[in-house]
This record gives sequence, structure tokens and C-alpha cells, in this order.
Amino acid sequence: MLDVLSERAAAVFSIPAEAAFRTLLSLLVVYLCTSLPVFLWGVKKLLQKVQGSKVSAGTATDSSAAGSECTVPSASDAASLIAARRSIFPKDFTGQKVDRSVVEAMLEAANWAPTHGKTEPWRFVVLGRAAQEELLDLSLKVLERDCTPEEFTKKRAKIEGKRKSAFSKATYMIAICMKRHAIPGKEMPEWEEVCAVACAVQNMWLSMTAHGAAGYWSSWYTEARESLDVKQFLGLDEEDKCMGVFMVGHCADPGCYRSKRQSIADKVTWRV
Ligand SMILES: Cc1cc2nc3c(=O)[nH]c(=O)nc-3n(C[C@H](O)[C@H](O)[C@H](O)COP(=O)(O)O)c2cc1C
Repeated sequence: MLDVLSERAAAVFSIPAEAAFRTLLSLLVVYLCTSLPVFLWGVKKLLQKVQGSKVSAGTATDSSAAGSECTVPSASDAASLIAARRSIFPKDFTGQKVDRSVVEAMLEAANWAPTHGKTEPWRFVVLGRAAQEELLDLSLKVLERDCTPEEFTKKRAKIEGKRKSAFSKATYMIAICMKRHAIPGKEMPEWEEVCAVACAVQNMWLSMTAHGAAGYWSSWYTEARESLDVKQFLGLDEEDKCMGVFMVGHCADPGCYRSKRQSIADKVTWRV
């Protein structure tokens, strides 16, 4: 085929057949070298699209793959989700169980939080009913040890009241933890690690809202949260932090919760 073409080219341009052949061969090589990468890039994009559609169908197992091909919701959908997120308290839970898959999706969302130095310091301990009772018992023990008797009496009465009327209706309590040295030997400022965990919680909260579940971030009881006893219960080291507990349950009408904010205009200075 190249022979025939080079003969024609030689006749048209009045040049020796051998020169025409070499010129055509060079052009062919240049064409292949430039078009092959474009072709391979196209194949790669196609494969990523197929993988991306699997991710949005909820089959993602590899977090690193999910991020690159997620579709972005519209700005108004994102704004609605953010504004719809509410703290919904266990007293208003129905006691109906929240599916484990909802918590798994919440944790997956949490895992996409920003993190300086890629330390990913968020750790979560998902507590079912029995483990929740263990955490409550342990927290009471710590409070009894670390508070004055008067303080403890007051706190115990409150906790025991909530245990029956509210906490017992939570399907899950997710202990929110910060691993101080998530990557051994790598130390980022502590405030950045705390912020990264807070971002993870917000992601989790938004995901929960989108799934129609209910919950809120409880600071938990300070003495208990900061104690080595509770840290050990959660599998943490002394230098790590427990940053409270995220309660998850079912609420018949999460939309009935209202909240408001002061104007953003009062909190922003523009110097543009
Ligand atoms: C770090 C953090 C800790 C919180 N701890 C508690 C708490 O211990 N008890 C409580 O009632 N609410 C707690 N909240 C929830 C706030 O009360 C709630 O976000 C606020 O009232 C605004 O309501 P909204 O979440 O529905 O917008 C906490 C929120 C954050 C961010």
C-alpha cells in the first residue's frame, strides 16, 4: 500500500520513488506517535466513566477511585442539603432502627474530608446498643471518681434520665476521635487535625441528612471524654482525643426541626 502511494507521490511531485517512500514513512510514524496517546487517553476516560457509574450506583469499595469521578450536584441541591442539616436529639427518635448501610455511607462521606498533610486523623468507633450502655456505665464511673459528690449526684440523675428516655432510642452512637499521630513520625499542628475531624463530621452529618436519618453531635461528658479510661475503651492512645459522640436514630419528621442564623453579612469583611 505504501509502495503504491509513494509511486503516485513520486509521479505527482516529480521526485525519486525512494524519497517519496521515505517521506511517506516518516509521515506515518509521526501520525502514529501523535494519535496513539490520544487514543489511549480516550480509552482511559471511557474506563473511568464506566467505573464512575458503578461508584454512583453504590458499589464503590476503593475510596481513592470514588473521588475522581463523582458527579457534582447542582449548587442549589448542595445549598439545600447544607441548610437542611439539623441537630435532631434522641428524645425525638422513634426507636426505629437505622440501617447499617446508612452509617456506612456516612462514614464513607466522612472519609472525604480535607486533611493537611494527608494524615486523615479521623477515627470512628460505631457503638451499637450494648456498647452504648458500656460507654454510659464507664462514663458514670469516671464522673464519680473525678467530680465532687454533689456534682456527681446531679450529673448521674441527668444521665440516668436521658439513658431511659432518649439514649435508648439511638440506633448508633459514633464516637468521634482524632488520632494525634495517624501517620507515625508525622506531626501536623493539633488544631489542624481537630479541624480535619470536624470537617469529617460535617460530611457525615450531611450524608445522614441526605439519607433521611436523624442525629446530632454531642460533646459528651467532659471528664469522661478526656479520661484515659474512655480513650482506652475506644482503642485510643493517651495523646489522641475523643471529640464527642454522634448519635444516630430515626425521627418521624426530621423536617420539623427549625434553626436560624444571624446574617452572614455581619460576619464577613470584604476587601475587594
Ligand atoms: C462540636 C459540637 C458539639 C456539640 N455538642 C452539643 C451538645 O453537647 N449538646 C447539644 O445539645 N448540642 C450540641 N451540639 C449541637 C448544637 O447544639 C447545634 O449544632 C446547634 O444548636 C445548631 O443547630 P443545628 O445543628 O440544627 O443547625 C454540638 C455541635 C457541635 C458542632
